[in-house]
Amino acid sequence: MPAERWSYQATVEMNDEQFLLWQALLEHRTGMQISTQRKSFLETSLTIRMREIGCTDYDTYYEKLMSGLVGEVEWATLVDRLTVQETSFFRHQHSFDLVRNYCRKLYEKQGRKHIELWSVGCATGEEPYSLAMVMDDLVKDFPGKRYYGITATDISLPALAKARDGVFSVRKLERIPEKFRQRYFEPVERGRSRVVARLKDRVCFAQINVLGLGEAPVQNVDIVFCQNLLIYFQRWRKQDIVTKLADRLAPGGMMVLGVGEVIDWHRPDLERVQYEDTLAYVKRNHS
Ligand SMILES: C[S@@+](CC[C@H](N)C(=O)[O-])C[C@H]1O[C@@H](n2cnc3c(N)ncnc32)[C@H](O)[C@@H]1O
Repeated sequence: MPAERWSYQATVEMNDEQFLLWQALLEHRTGMQISTQRKSFLETSLTIRMREIGCTDYDTYYEKLMSGLVGEVEWATLVDRLTVQETSFFRHQHSFDLVRNYCRKLYEKQGRKHIELWSVGCATGEEPYSLAMVMDDLVKDFPGKRYYGITATDISLPALAKARDGVFSVRKLERIPEKFRQRYFEPVERGRSRVVARLKDRVCFAQINVLGLGEAPVQNVDIVFCQNLLIYFQRWRKQDIVTKLADRLAPGGMMVLGVGEVIDWHRPDLERVQYEDTLAYVKRNHS
């Protein structure tokens, strides 16, 4: 049936067997768990994508995803549709305050010249650019003497492309403090603004799947910032991922997670940070 005619039909219903197959595929490749309550989200997202490429049933589409290079290319598009990319600038203010205070301490008390930060699951860039604003504002107190760099990673290539672009609707900028908005954004067209080059140049975007952290070339990071990503994962997987993230921390580095995102997790070389409404750990200098 031609795609145009088919596109007027309702979402294709998925049987239990198919649901289990798709659930397993997503869990295996992204870590994300699609609960039964979110079955209709899965059906709608898949149906929309299948219509776009003229595919009429789930089994044929599944086979396409499994078929070599074509499958890999298609997967890159699909994963973007199935992951939740909701984000905002300064989404959790206390966590950014904590990063600011901690980095000030590293620069002032420990004489650090350079600080390396990692935004894990950075979506369309609001989180790493928020970190960049905090850091740029901090280093301006030490002109030419203190530096920082940010690595920002995500599984979704389309999200990373938007992040690299650094253009946002002015509505999205509302949460940014006025002085930062003035300093770090320039209007590009009606209703849209771009992050200034000074910030953009400090952020390096790359695709990293947190299920493959073992191979990720990121090491000795001073701040690992990972929020609203682990919430979709099973408990054992969360613990496995935070353990691997903690491995990437430099001695004295801090990992900032979302409040309540990980429970019953400890490591002898990490100390819980006591800071209002945050979940963070510092790696001891000597374990
Ligand atoms: C809800 S957003 C959170 C964005 C940002 N951290 C925040 O708190 O606003 C979750 C992000 O995690 C990404 N993600 C999902 N599974 C992933 C995986 N296995 N590896 C890396 N990123 C993943 C999604 O593409 C999405 O951009």
